Formats: sequence, C-alpha cells, structure tokens
Amino acid sequence: MKKIGVLTSGGDAPGMNAAIRAVVRKAIYHGLEIYGVYGGYAGLLNGDIEKLDLGSVGDIIHKGGTVLYTARCEEFKTREGQEKGLARLKEYGIEGLVVIGGDGSFRGAEALTKLGFPCVGVPGTIDNDIAGTDFTIGFDTALNTVIDAIDKIRDTATSHERTFIIEVMGRSAGHIALWAGLADGAESILIPEEPFSIEEVVERLKQGNDRGKRHSIIIVAEGAGSALEIGKKIKEATNYDTRISVLGHIQRGGSPTACDRVLASRLGAHAVDLLLHKKGGRAVGIVNNKIVDYDIAEVFKHEHTIDKDLFELSKILSI
Ligand code: F6P
Repeated sequence: MKKIGVLTSGGDAPGMNAAIRAVVRKAIYHGLEIYGVYGGYAGLLNGDIEKLDLGSVGDIIHKGGTVLYTARCEEFKTREGQEKGLARLKEYGIEGLVVIGGDGSFRGAEALTKLGFPCVGVPGTIDNDIAGTDFTIGFDTALNTVIDAIDKIRDTATSHERTFIIEVMGRSAGHIALWAGLADGAESILIPEEPFSIEEVVERLKQGNDRGKRHSIIIVAEGAGSALEIGKKIKEATNYDTRISVLGHIQRGGSPTACDRVLASRLGAHAVDLLLHKKGGRAVGIVNNKIVDYDIAEVFKHEHTIDKDLFELSKILSI
C-alpha cells in the first residue's frame, strides 16, 4: 500500500483533529502518501481530495471540530453513490481509507470494504454509542462541557431554589446523560435504556424536598424524551419553580480533553497500522485501556450498552 486517504463523517466530535493528525503523521512516518478527503462522503463524491503533508496537521491537536470538515451524505447510502466514491478513490490512486465518525460513517466504510476497498473505522462521536469500544473520541470532552454547564446551572438553581430539567445529547443512547448525571449528583437521570415514570421522578423530588433539599437537577437524554414536556409534567405534579435548559450543540464543540487527544492519537495510529498490513473492514477501539480492532460488521450487530452499575450507583448516591 502506497497511498491512503482519511475523512471525517457525521457529527463532528472534539478530538477528530487529533485523530487526523495521528493518521497523517503515522502514514508519512511509514513512507505512505496520505490524502485528505474534505467534507466526508459528500466531498469524496465531489472529488474534494488533497494530498496532505506533515505541516497540514500542525497546530490542530488542541482544536475542536474537524479541519477536514464533515457532512451527513444520503447519496453515499446508495450502491450507486458508493461505486461513484470508489471510482473517485481509484482516480487518485488511493488504496485504503481511514473513516473517522459514528456508526453511519462506519456503514459507509463497511460498504466500500464490501466493494473490495479496504477501510478502517475510527470511532469519533460524542454519543459513545459504538459497540466494541469502551469510549469514542469526543465523549470525554462533551461530558466535561456538559458538567461545566450543569455546574453553572446549579449555582442559579441553588440561589433561586429551583428544579432544573436539563436535556443533553446522545441520539438514542444515554451515555452522556448517565455519566454527567453521576458526575453532577443529579436527583434523577432519565435515559432511553432504563424505563422511568414521571410519578417516580416526582416522588424522588418530593422526598428530597421533605429532607430539606432546596433545588434539584434532573438530566434527560434526548433519546428519553423532551425536557420541555417532562418539565411541564413535573411542574403540574409539584408546582415547584421549574426551569428547562436544552444544552444543544455547545456539547459538540470545544478543545478536546487530554483523554480525547490521547485516545484519538492511539486509535488513529492503529488504523494506519491495519491498512499497512492490508487489513480492511476493521473498526478500532479501546477496551480496558488496550487498543483493539475487530470486524466492522460487529458494530451493527451489537449495542454499546450502558453501564447498569453506574446507573444504580447514581440512584443510591442521589437519595
Ligand atoms: O451524533 C452526535 C449528535 O450530536 C447527537 O448527539 C445528536 O442527536 C445529533 O448529532 C445532532 O445532529 P445534527 O448536528 O445533525 O443536528
């Protein structure tokens, strides 16, 4: 293998730049030519491809977002789109591709591999919802952003003796909500993986109130429902002074944490190693602090389940 490419796809995640840097530098270290595909699979279809050098990835390790830009591309979900993408890669003489993104991006990588083109998936998403890896690039940073926001909201919640319902991202997974809720001592954490009832949430609020709690924080994962709706029901049931906060895309931005930079560097480098050994159709991940790789098809057969022990612990610690 002489030439490989790298792209970022789907929602951006802090640490993607560190992963791009690792891919580029590791590839050059091993004497490969490396091409950046700008704008995800959409950019691939348009032939938005440029050769990268060591300097192309200088001064980016600490930056959020992705210098390669990203997109969600409907056309690449079709066989026609995938063949067009493959033709583009061949046009540039590219023989292997590193795809940094979430499970939608991995599907594209799997499709290309099935067409005979070796791809390796690097998990980059704030949602932490990729099976086969303990953590995805961006999760730790998003979590810290969420915690910073909740800490600030807590100040005003305490001062006004209010109940805050805070909605966080995560798509259909509750990892961000669960970890943030535990880290911030939320009274209730509502996630799609665990059934809940408003009655139960209200009961916990009232118990807290009875023992003198003057404010409360409830974290809702976007996949578990709308903070607005849940807030209305809580207000109706308790008449507590209630406010809603939907954190939104602030969770996706910002300088990556040290954990995300290190994780991204390790995963990006490992992806290049796999391509050097002509191993396509793989996803890389971290399990028990060891870098691993596995068949990319496994990602779609399993779920990254939440840690039930964390959930139980959060309930015990917030009584
Ligand atoms: O996958 C990352 C994520 O931020 C999810 O948490 C969220 O549901 C989604 O992307 C939002 O996507 P968009 O930026 O396209 O609105």
